[in-house]
Amino acid sequence: MSVGNSVIRKDAYAKVTGREKFTSDLYFPGMLYGKLVMSDRPHAIVKGIYTKNAFKVKGVRAILTHRDIPGKNRLPLIFDDMPFLAEDTVRYHGHVIALIVAEKRHIADLALRYIDIKYEDLSPILSIEDGLNNKENPLFGDDNIFKSYVIKRGDVEGAFKGAHLVVKNTYKTPYQEHTYLENQSMLAYPEPDGGITVYGSMQCPFYVRDAVAAILGLPLSRVRVIQAATGGGFGGKEDVPSLIAAYAALMAFKTSRPVLLSLSREEDMVFSSKRHPGLIHYETAFDRSGFILGVRVRYYLNAGAYATLSPVVLWRGTVHAVGPYRVSNIDVEAFAVATNLVPCGAYRGFGTPQILFAHERQMDEAAKRLGINPARIREINLIDIGDKTPTGQLLKESVGIKETLKRAIEDTDFINKYNEASDDDNEWQKGIGLSTVFYGVGLGAGGKHLARSGAFVQINLDGSVEIAVGQTEMGQGLKTVVSQIAASELGIPYSMVNIVDIDTSRVPDSGPTVASRGTFMAGNAVIIACRELKERLLPVFRKIWKRENIILDGLLFKDGMVHYKSDSSLSVPFNTVIKSAILEHKINLSTIGWYRAPFTSFSYENGEGDAYFTYSYATNVVELMVNINTGELKIKKITACLDVGKAINPQQVEGQIQGGSLQGLGYSWLEEIKHKDGIMQTNNLSTYIIPTTLDTPTIKPIIVEVPYSKGPFGSKGFGELPLMGIAPAVANAVSHAIDRNITEIPLTPERLLDIINR
Ligand code: MTE
Ligand code: MOS
Repeated sequence: MSVGNSVIRKDAYAKVTGREKFTSDLYFPGMLYGKLVMSDRPHAIVKGIYTKNAFKVKGVRAILTHRDIPGKNRLPLIFDDMPFLAEDTVRYHGHVIALIVAEKRHIADLALRYIDIKYEDLSPILSIEDGLNNKENPLFGDDNIFKSYVIKRGDVEGAFKGAHLVVKNTYKTPYQEHTYLENQSMLAYPEPDGGITVYGSMQCPFYVRDAVAAILGLPLSRVRVIQAATGGGFGGKEDVPSLIAAYAALMAFKTSRPVLLSLSREEDMVFSSKRHPGLIHYETAFDRSGFILGVRVRYYLNAGAYATLSPVVLWRGTVHAVGPYRVSNIDVEAFAVATNLVPCGAYRGFGTPQILFAHERQMDEAAKRLGINPARIREINLIDIGDKTPTGQLLKESVGIKETLKRAIEDTDFINKYNEASDDDNEWQKGIGLSTVFYGVGLGAGGKHLARSGAFVQINLDGSVEIAVGQTEMGQGLKTVVSQIAASELGIPYSMVNIVDIDTSRVPDSGPTVASRGTFMAGNAVIIACRELKERLLPVFRKIWKRENIILDGLLFKDGMVHYKSDSSLSVPFNTVIKSAILEHKINLSTIGWYRAPFTSFSYENGEGDAYFTYSYATNVVELMVNINTGELKIKKITACLDVGKAINPQQVEGQIQGGSLQGLGYSWLEEIKHKDGIMQTNNLSTYIIPTTLDTPTIKPIIVEVPYSKGPFGSKGFGELPLMGIAPAVANAVSHAIDRNITEIPLTPERLLDIINR
């Protein structure tokens, strides 16, 4: 069976041979090049935009502002507070004010220098604290808060009164830039009939379609969006490509020529979304044995200048605020705060890496003060089947968290290593740390209306199969795993399944490809489609085998054959059945499978509910050395044990773990966005440092499979999980090595030296 095997990725050859076509590799005759004119002020009134000199540059075809928009100057997202092109004010460094279209890329670059914008500066809000204190000139509403949520359950006062130990800390977490290999890119092609086709790098083609239609004032049916090969997204291509596509589309519409808009790294880093910086006040009450009695959290995200995805990012963080623990006394309040900085959005983990950094540090501080091993204090508090999550959701199946902890501590000999002290005279001090985390799969109750997905499946005369799904490939291996699912469901070789790039005119609106929902949603839709087609084949079997009452459950599709389960003498090659179905029975062997996600709920009054239909789980162990004279870290080894339900392709699971761990390491250790008076200073890869292969430790993946009954072949989504628990495991290991409380990341040498010398 294809599922469960590490078959070669569908896109492997194209990618390793360099033949894959990314957006910037596409070309149409007469194609023009677009360029963004961005604000270089964090907060200002736009007094005038002077374009006359720029127009004189030979080869400039158009310069567009908000006045040129045929539709609405707003993108359809959660709130529609963000002007697509700035009007009378700019609210962050990078806010797009105008668009230049030229015959060549360098001409557009040159013209940009001749654009003159007159500003009147306003005082900017540059931090969460500023945003909370500034009630006089709020950027949003009357309190400068885009959105807030609560979880209020049980008797928190009582829990804290009866506590043996209260651990109280304030945590700060940084921005993180997605640093996808391929920058944001879109190509818009104006169709002769007045519609438009957009090719590009994206996670969410249906969002892009909706945005382009809104800006151009076109019906959805006149906008067709086709995903080009996408060089990484990590959440950074959830909502941002809607902007890029609509800019390209507006330029194409106005010039009646194809337009490529492909950002430079500097433009991309200044303009595009990032992981939200977090500020978290966290108090946890413990009894003498280390059981958690109650939790009080105040969780703030720096949302930036516009709401974009902050409401949903904040919601996920809120739901995960307590961690994978059994806690019934909870007081969580969460806020997305408006500032004059780049609007933050989705990034692998979606609001949870911030908050889980806090709860996992809390656990280690408690363990230290109570004299309990960090593994043991988690073990006694972790949720299991029959327990309730912090939102009161009864867990009925597929809870592998304890198994991941067990496997990870055995594999690393955690208990012994933790008890071994470093040699005091040594400049390099050894540390080991762990974290246990959970992650709600899919959009959950916060995104219910989008919790559906479609898949087109067609069986051809030769028995080969074409599929097109509503979710996108961004490097995570989606094309491969859904092809494996189709192959296994039909009992045919993986090589017989071909998957095409997503095209909004071919599959129904399947919502976004985010929240680790790809395999689960598209996989289930493919299974539904395959079953429907197999059902249509029943008359063929009835005729071949001369049995009237054959039903689908009586058949076994395996290894290119179909067997009749209750009579082993009856079997027939799949291809023979298909030929007969199409040529003799004239059966339509193409269909669209449609899947709706299982039930979820959430009370916005008290935070109770079945927030997600299921959860994935992980334990990470990090082993490292700290140089107490220089603040340097040497990361020795990361062990990542994940419960994924079922590994459809174990090698791809390991790949996700390798990449995600490294991204998590960057977040913990090196990556830092710096601003000076609201102007981003770290706008390229020489100033924004990410880990390279030279910084990569041994990463050991351990896969745990506790199947989820509603998952395709038992699988749950897990694509974001590998990143999430790394930062607290690193911080816990550092804290173990140097015996200091760590409340802030990234642990750059400078920051670490400050902590050591404190
Ligand atoms: N892996 C690669 N190689 N490239 C990516 O862009 N994005 C991550 C994760 N793994 C990403 C990745 C994020 S943010 C998500 S939500 C999931 O993949 C999405 O894919 P899935 O739903 O198919 O797991
Ligand atoms: Mo992933 S942050 O949900 O795209």
